[in-house]
Formats: sequence, C-alpha cells, structure tokens
Amino acid sequence: MSDVFGLTSQIKIMSKKDTKQNETVSWELSPAPESKGHISLKPKYDLFINGKWVKPSGGKYFDSINPATEEKLAEIAYASEADVDKAVKAAREAYTNVWSKLSGRERGKYIFRIARLIQERAREFAVIETLDGGKAIRESRDVDVPLAANHFFYYAGWADKLEYAFPNRKVESLGVAGQIIPWNFPLLMAAWKIAPALACGNTVVLKPAETTSLTALKLAEIIEESGLPAGVVNIVTGYGDTGAAIVNHPDVNKVAFTGSTNVGKIIQRAVAGTNKKLTLELGGKSANIIFEDAPIDQAVEGIVNGIFFNQGHVCCAGSRLFVQEGVADEVIQKLKDRMDHLYIGDPMDKNTDIGAINSKEQFDTIRKYIKIGKAEGNEIYESNCPVPSKGYFCRPTLILDVAQSSTLVQEEIFGPVLTVQTFRTVDEVIQKANNTPYGLAAGVWTDKGSKIFNLTTKLRAGVVWANTYNRFDPVSPFGGYKESGFGREGGKHGLEAYLKI
Ligand code: NAI
Ligand code: MG
Repeated sequence: MSDVFGLTSQIKIMSKKDTKQNETVSWELSPAPESKGHISLKPKYDLFINGKWVKPSGGKYFDSINPATEEKLAEIAYASEADVDKAVKAAREAYTNVWSKLSGRERGKYIFRIARLIQERAREFAVIETLDGGKAIRESRDVDVPLAANHFFYYAGWADKLEYAFPNRKVESLGVAGQIIPWNFPLLMAAWKIAPALACGNTVVLKPAETTSLTALKLAEIIEESGLPAGVVNIVTGYGDTGAAIVNHPDVNKVAFTGSTNVGKIIQRAVAGTNKKLTLELGGKSANIIFEDAPIDQAVEGIVNGIFFNQGHVCCAGSRLFVQEGVADEVIQKLKDRMDHLYIGDPMDKNTDIGAINSKEQFDTIRKYIKIGKAEGNEIYESNCPVPSKGYFCRPTLILDVAQSSTLVQEEIFGPVLTVQTFRTVDEVIQKANNTPYGLAAGVWTDKGSKIFNLTTKLRAGVVWANTYNRFDPVSPFGGYKESGFGREGGKHGLEAYLKI
C-alpha cells in the first residue's frame, strides 16, 4: 500500500516550545535538493506514432514549463487531427495484425518488461514529474512512480488469466482505446490507462495533459526499449482539440477520460449514439468526517494528507471537513498548528510538503475561489508558513464555519483549500456529506467499527477510507458516483472497461 502523501512528513518533529519566551519556534531544516544531473531531456519532443518519433503535420510545438520556476523545460509537438488519424490507423493495424493475435502470456511479458524498466529508471521519472508538474519530489518519488510500476506489474499478471477473472464468460478485447489524461498524476494516470488496455489485448492512442506531457513521452521511450510491437501504444501530445480528435475518431472503440466534469460531459455527448465504450473519471468534493471518538492527532494528520499535500491536486482530495461539535475547537486548533509548520516551496527539495500549483490557470482558479470565500463573508485562515515569491505557490487555507450552500462547499477547487463544517448526529453528517453533485471518495475517523460500516453503506462515494485517507493499491478499484463519473479503474473491475464480456 502506498500513501499518496508520504508518511515521512509525520516523522518530522516540526516545532519546539521555547519555554523562556513561551512561543513556538520552527526547526529550520537544511535544504536537501534532489539532483537533476542524472536525467535526460531533449529540447524538443515529437509524436510517438507507430513506434517512431514523427514531427507534427502542422509543424507546431508548445512549451512545457516548470511551474515552480516558470522556466521552459522542453518543446512539445502539437498534434493535429491528421496526426491523430495517423496514430489511430497505426493502432488499428497493430491491433489487427499483431496484438490481437498474441497470447495473453506473450502480452504479459511485454507489460512486465515495461514495469521493470519504469522501476529501473524510477529516479529519472520522479525528477521529471516534479520539474514538469510542480509536485513535491517526495510525492513523485514515493507515490507516483512506484504506483505506476505497480499498475503495470499488476495488470501484466492478468493478461493470461482473463478467463479466470470472468469465469464461464467469453471475453474479447475491444480494439483501439483512445485515452485522455489530466495533469495531476501524469505518469500514474498513463499507467492506469495503458496497463489494463494492453493486458486485455487492446491497442492505445494516449494524450497526456498539455502542462505535463514529459513523463508520458519518457514512457514512450521505455515502450520503445521494451520492444513492444510498433503501433500498440501511440502517444500524441497537444491541447483539448487533440483530445477531441481522439474522442471523435470513428475508428476508436473505447474512450477513457480522466479530467474535469465539464470536459467529461462534452465527451459523453460526443460518444452518445456511437458504439464506443466509455469510462469517465471526473471531479470530486470528498468529505472527511471526524467523530468525537476518533484518534484526533491521527485524524488531523489524515486531513492534512487528504487536502494539503500534493497542493490539493487530487480528484479524491478530502476537500470538505465535517467535524463533530464536541471536538471541533480542538481539531481546528491542531489543524492550524500543523498547517503553520508545513513546508511550501522548491518541489525538488526532499523536505518540501507542498510544491507548486501545476499551472498559472489553476493558480488563478484557486485564488478566484478564495476571493469568493471572502466575498461570501466566511472566516478564512491562511497558514503563515513562508512562500517563495516566484512560481505558483498557494498557502494551505481553511474556510471556517461555512454554509452548506456556499460555492466553496459545492464546487471543486482543486487546490489546498479546505471547507470546515460541524455536525451533531450521524444522520446529519450523512445528509450533508451526500449533498453534493459528486461522489468519488470519503473518509471516516472513529473508534467504532459499527459507525464505519454504517457510513460506508450510506455515503454515496466510490471509495470510503476508514481512519486513513488517500491510500491506493492497484488491486482495489477506484471510481465515482453521480458527476464524479462512471466505470472503475484498478483491480479486477478495471479489466471490464477494456473487454467485451
Ligand atoms: P481538463 O478536463 O480540461 O483537461 C483534462 C484533459 O482533457 C487534458 O488532457 C486536456 O487536454 C483534455 N481536454 C480538454 N478539452 C477536451 C475536449 N474537449 N475533448 C477531449 N479532451 C479534452 O481539465 P483542466 O482544464 O486542466 O482542469 C480544470 C479543472 O478540472 C480543475 O480545476 C479540476 O477541478 C478538474 N480536474 C480534475 C481532475 C481529476 O483527476 N478528476 C484532473 C484535472 C483537473
Ligand atoms: Mg509543465
């Protein structure tokens, strides 16, 4: 099991009481920067189609920048509709002539090889993920990259066992899968999409998000090195129109999307009335619920993990806190203390808890929501940890005692902003937690097993964590209810999305 928000933070003793002055003084940690010396980045990346690197037909490229420094990292090819068509054709040919003819055992060997190659180059992947996306190196090193390798290992194991996954049923691959992924877990989302597709015998055209294409392109290098037959995986880079070209291509059999609810709805409309199979993993506004009998310190750490680390760029982030009245003051005070001692800054520093917001657009979105919170008259607490002056950094923020009807409670912010509400009874909190258009995840903190089981059955959320938060494992399925999307990724359930059963 991996914790999306490395447990290492808990080991740091963050403050000491200076008895003379009776005030809290932070320990200063010496900088511990990860090096960039071992990574190899080209100045310019082309499209990976049919096993070759090809120039975009329109000749256009865009910059990928480091959001922590605003420096350019590389130029990325901007794929046109014609390039997408070329990629889909390559995927179709590879499907018909090679991949659909291989046994599951043979497919599995390639997928295992990709998993091992990711492990071998884990450090390089972690550094590039952090440079391109802004997340703290601790996260990419301990969570993103190992989990990505694990997903390939896990699904490699299923490739020759599909008939055991669905006993007495006939299973068949779908064909060409078009996959579009977001910027919050770039390599991990690519793994979530590619690994089950290949295990089930499909070929792939994948588009990473425009702000974080680099690790998907590095993955293409690994795919080349693995000897995977040409055209089985194609990586096309670009903006939303490139994604739309994949969705609308008539020869794509399956569309898998993770991203915003708005784009999810556009895709759902585009696919309606076609034979394309669709899975959507969209936004969330997940509730973290603390009862009076909960282990409070552990719960506070869980809340911090759930929303503040990874800059709140997690679709299942615990962005709404519900705390039972009797412990509300204690929880909020402990939360504020913990927030004041988080380290925000250089994502490449191994001490950093909170890195950079992924892009200027997302940074502006988060600031906009905090402004709305202020205009609504909510009590707002911004942590007073120091923040670098350059780059897109956002302080962890609490919106206290906020009304259920507030925009901040209703809409996904996708940043380190936590709304705090109190409750008295179990029924009240179930009602409040479920009162959202989303239903991706929830967390419950209590000493009582009976309360946990009561809530897991009544909360409308795809995942409910008990006395922990944001734990992931390739074996367990993930996905949402309502506007959080449909279909499950991960585990045996994740196979169904890529099979005719
Ligand atoms: P987005 O949904 O626009 O982007 C996700 C992916 O979809 C990117 O690869 C993008 O290029 C592609 N895309 C955009 N328009 C498309 C279209 N019409 N057809 C096909 N593909 C298209 O997300 P964005 O704008 O980066 O973030 C906006 C908000 O979405 C965030 O503030 C957050 O609330 C939410 N979000 C949710 C994520 C999740 O994991 N559920 C991940 C990223 C963002
Ligand atoms: Mg970038």
